[in-house]
Amino acid sequence: MKVTVVGAGAVGASCAEYIAIKNFASEVVILDIKEGYAEGKAMDLMQTASLNNFDTKITGSTSDYSKTANSDICVITSGIPRKPGMTREELIGINAGIVKSVSSSLVEHSPNTIIIVVSNPMDTMTYLVHKTIDLPKNKIIGMGGALDSARFKYRLAEALEAPISDVDGMVIGGHSDKGMVPLTSHATRNSIKVSEFLSEDRLNQVKEDTKVGGATLTKLLGTSAWYAPGAAVSGLVQAIACDQKKIFPCSTMLEGEYGLSDLCIGVPVVLGRNGIEKIVDVPLSEAEKQHMAESADGVKKTNGLLEL
Ligand code: LAC
Repeated sequence: MKVTVVGAGAVGASCAEYIAIKNFASEVVILDIKEGYAEGKAMDLMQTASLNNFDTKITGSTSDYSKTANSDICVITSGIPRKPGMTREELIGINAGIVKSVSSSLVEHSPNTIIIVVSNPMDTMTYLVHKTIDLPKNKIIGMGGALDSARFKYRLAEALEAPISDVDGMVIGGHSDKGMVPLTSHATRNSIKVSEFLSEDRLNQVKEDTKVGGATLTKLLGTSAWYAPGAAVSGLVQAIACDQKKIFPCSTMLEGEYGLSDLCIGVPVVLGRNGIEKIVDVPLSEAEKQHMAESADGVKKTNGLLEL
């Protein structure tokens, strides 16, 4: 199992690290345009192998896509991250050009790969990859919902004063401050609906804190977060590589599901060796349906800024 990670920045490096630590891939190639940077990150990570007990071979390359040839899975993290006060949508100008050229170079060397898009604005970048390269729709996956759901569970556990392992919940919709739809109606604490424990006001606070999860960290760190994004990507990569058939919310091209079409947006999917193996239909409350429709409008508006 060969995995390529494009972008040796904080998200790319942390993603490579989590994949290696989980020890399911034979090879991880990190690529970056900054001379020597990916090679340096790869060497540093390889020197943790004996300490962290993994056998995954990590190599780095400065923009040599021939090194990525025949990758089973490619992760695109390249592009600029947001700065405090910026929205993810404001990154589109620079990141669209980067994602277009990166995705084209990747499929040139790995025509059967599965691509995971992390660059922001993620739903629009996932849509752009669909429009740029010729891969079946199950093989182009946007990573946002897995991260947003992890942040939702963190906030739920905080509100419930419960351990995170006791909590389950999912965020669908666009990966943006306004577009995320935390499914409070489905969230549970050890199979009991969280509404049994939390007031509507407290649940609304959890929802709002979840939606600005990335912005809160960007303000604290001065740039966007990397540990949870890296861990979330590694979860998707592992589900595909190990054919786990796990459900994650991922950005995928919709063709009528959830009443939406011609956009990529976060919905629950089953991930296995073929990438997105199934889109799962979950019943939504009226408020969640309304929020999902507004979220889709927001994503389509951002897609409209693309020069296709
Ligand atoms: C975040 C970025 C990765 O939400 O979109 O932290």
